[in-house]
Amino acid sequence: MGLITLLLLSLLASFSGAEFSAKIGVNYGQLGNNLPSPSKSVKLIKTLEAKRVKLYDANPEILKALKSTDLQVSIMVPNQLIFNISTNQTLADQWVHTNVVPFFRETKIRYILVGNEILSSSDKTTWFGLVPAMRRIRSSVKACGFRKIKVGTPLAMDVLESSFPPSNGTFRSDVSVSVMKPLLQVLNRTKSFFFLDVYPYFAWSSDPTNIKLDYALLQWTNVTYTDPGTGLTYTNLLDQMLDSVIFAMKRLGYPNIRLFIAETGWPNAGDIDQIGANIYNAATYNRNVIKKLSAKPPVGTPARPATVIPAFIFALYNENQKPGPSTERHFGLLYPNKSNVYDINLSGKKTVSEYKPLPPATNNEPYKGKIWCVVASGANRTELAGALSYVCGQGNGTCDPIQPGKMCYKPNSLVRHSSFAFSSYWAQFRKLGGTCYFNGLAVQTTKDPSYGSCKFPSVTL
Ligand SMILES: *[C@@H]1O[C@H](CO)[C@@H](O)[C@H](O)[C@H]1NC(C)=O
Ligand SMILES: *[C@@H]1O[C@H](CO)[C@@H](O)[C@H](O)[C@H]1NC(C)=O
Ligand SMILES: *[C@@H]1O[C@H](CO)[C@@H](O)[C@H](O)[C@H]1NC(C)=O
Ligand SMILES: *[C@@H]1O[C@H](CO)[C@@H](O)[C@H](O)[C@H]1NC(C)=O
Ligand SMILES: *[C@@H]1O[C@H](CO)[C@@H](O)[C@H](O)[C@H]1NC(C)=O
Ligand SMILES: *[C@@H]1O[C@H](CO)[C@@H](O)[C@H](O)[C@H]1NC(C)=O
Ligand SMILES: *[C@@H]1O[C@H](CO)[C@@H](O)[C@H](O)[C@H]1NC(C)=O
Ligand SMILES: *[C@@H]1O[C@H](CO)[C@@H](O)[C@H](O)[C@H]1NC(C)=O
Ligand SMILES: *[C@@H]1O[C@H](CO)[C@@H](O)[C@H](O)[C@H]1NC(C)=O
Repeated sequence: MGLITLLLLSLLASFSGAEFSAKIGVNYGQLGNNLPSPSKSVKLIKTLEAKRVKLYDANPEILKALKSTDLQVSIMVPNQLIFNISTNQTLADQWVHTNVVPFFRETKIRYILVGNEILSSSDKTTWFGLVPAMRRIRSSVKACGFRKIKVGTPLAMDVLESSFPPSNGTFRSDVSVSVMKPLLQVLNRTKSFFFLDVYPYFAWSSDPTNIKLDYALLQWTNVTYTDPGTGLTYTNLLDQMLDSVIFAMKRLGYPNIRLFIAETGWPNAGDIDQIGANIYNAATYNRNVIKKLSAKPPVGTPARPATVIPAFIFALYNENQKPGPSTERHFGLLYPNKSNVYDINLSGKKTVSEYKPLPPATNNEPYKGKIWCVVASGANRTELAGALSYVCGQGNGTCDPIQPGKMCYKPNSLVRHSSFAFSSYWAQFRKLGGTCYFNGLAVQTTKDPSYGSCKFPSVTL
């Protein structure tokens, strides 16, 4: 009797303990060439009152800087190692011995995530190595006696082929049976989490006419959506997205695996052709998410009311070396110079009215007017020449006007020719997913670069 009571007590203790609490963390991405040192970064993370931190590797400098802090740490096995680890236990053991063992006593490593958004990549050999690699890493962790460490893998919303209505949530048929089923089995058996990267921003920005911005920002509105399949009523887009994953898991026979938000956030700036990326929305979304997820008692979602959903906000810094549209480089809570992009506090204790006011949003509607894509200032000439020949090799006459004797040939300058080629390429391929980035060599502008009789092609949203 006494023993059973003790066991029950310790079970209760472990469930109410920090491990399973709603404490909010932050993603510490390092894709920038101007970021503060690991020890400065750890100080900043503490100032933000984050209680957890997630790394995209197992950087030993950062793990050292985190020692003797209370921060719970998530580290990551890089994507490139998954295939080899999936077939070789020695490699899994070596990875754990190199990246966990030397730090575990002093740094609270609690999660090992195997790969990052593996099922969003086109490299299928890694897909099928994912679950075997997770099993091997877990077996190494177990052999070391690290019982507090959970093994998981963060996946993006594109693992679903349907997410609407939420009750129709279904995993993609190309991974459902071959990867998701064994993955869910491992997560369920080991009482780990479904780690999800979830961004209402992307869902809203791809359909801003049908989705209300306030619904995506978790602002209070009178807009609700009732799922005809379940009768559950939704008051924000995040809950809808989370529940679609819960229903997809249920469909495969795993209704009880806990969710862990591995990434969520909102960009504080973006390109001219990107809507709603601004400081006002970023602060509003993150403040509301922090409030919702750290509420006591926990709020949960319509499908799983009153459950705790731990989360990492993306990201600590604006990272200037992330490729893609400008939003990718503007998810930070902090600038690289360590100052806040906006007032934010991850403790969950600060009320919305205690925060400093925000600059008004200026781009919540699509930009009206023409946009061009031109060479960024300071672009490397060698790289520019490479980009020019790449763009002009894409066919369809993109570069005809800059050929000798044509309208835009003179002045025969690398920068002018490249600006023309970028604008021409972007105008032609934007609808097919082409971006105005070219590895940082290009930027958007609303100032018409045309001159004389040389007219630059433009984009109108
Ligand atoms: C994986 O293993 C193969 C064969 O041993 C080796 O050639 C390759 O370099 C390894 N890949 C990585 C990323 O370590
Ligand atoms: C597994 O990896 C270890 C360490 O790299 C290597 O020595 C061994 O040959 C590998 N085993 C197989 C079967 O590839
Ligand atoms: C439900 O999901 C399926 C794909 O899994 C999709 O074909 C169908 O259109 C979805 N239903 C609704 C109402 O969106
Ligand atoms: C998932 O885990 C729970 C609790 O351990 C167990 O009762 C259930 O049978 C498992 N589900 C499946 C489908 O294996
Ligand atoms: C929601 O509120 C807006 C603004 O107050 C109002 O115009 C609209 O009619 C309301 N919609 C519903 C469904 O109540
Ligand atoms: C930090 O950088 C941001 C963005 O470049 C700038 O607005 C801000 O003034 C800088 N803060 C300090 C203290 O230099
Ligand atoms: C975060 O908010 C709490 C509650 O308002 C406050 O006690 C704490 O000082 C704040 N921390 C920072 C760094 O602003
Ligand atoms: C320009 O880029 C080339 C190729 O990446 C590199 O070798 C070179 O050092 C760069 N030049 C400058 C001035 O940064
Ligand atoms: C190339 O140009 C033709 C004719 O204007 C057009 O039909 C086609 O869609 C273009 N191809 C691409 C890839 O844009």
